[in-house]
Amino acid sequence: MIKLEKVTEKTFKKILSLKVTKEQEAYVSSNLVSLAQAWLYYEHARPLAILLDEEPIGFMMLDWDEEERTVGIWRMMIDAQYQGKGYGKKALQILIEQIKQDNKFDLVNLSIVPENQAARNLYRSLGFKETGEIDDEEEIMVLPLTEGKEAIK
Ligand SMILES: CC(C)(COP(=O)(O)OP(=O)(O)OC[C@H]1O[C@@H](n2cnc3c(N)ncnc32)[C@H](O)[C@@H]1OP(=O)(O)O)[C@@H](O)C(=O)NCCC(=O)NCCS
Repeated sequence: MIKLEKVTEKTFKKILSLKVTKEQEAYVSSNLVSLAQAWLYYEHARPLAILLDEEPIGFMMLDWDEEERTVGIWRMMIDAQYQGKGYGKKALQILIEQIKQDNKFDLVNLSIVPENQAARNLYRSLGFKETGEIDDEEEIMVLPLTEGKEAIK
């Protein structure tokens, strides 16, 4: 069973050991960098372990902004040996469900390296759409959670 859990003293070393493939390193920062940023930007960053039956197999970091009513998927990775098994999609489905239940947010956003077709397919399969905006050479994708935000481009 897939679960999301705050990164803890118990899981952080394992999270640091999780790796994507060499080619995918261009698409996501290392978990070491992400956890350092989680400290720097602690007011907004929410680093989460993706657990498969208590075993850390991936990592996600959110940019949590209740004032703006948006959640950013800042980092998302599944360890190379666990990819292609539906775990990434399940983790995102759980996240989106939780965010909807929170009722504090209107929109989930993220950015992808344009060549990252696996991530694009994954996010599209969950309803995310490209906005046409580019930020720091990455394409912005959004998932509106409330009707009012459908119009946002
Ligand atoms: C992107 C990533 C998180 C996907 O996780 P995953 O667990 O392997 O993905 P899943 O098995 O849940 O696949 C879900 C969907 O993603 C897409 N997908 C996943 N891997 C893919 C691949 N190699 N090629 C094309 N599409 C792919 C498919 O649409 C798939 O649905 P389908 O199996 O019904 O076709 C993972 O490949 C990863 O960690 N990549 C490196 C880091 C990265 O790119 N992060 C995203 C930064 S924005």
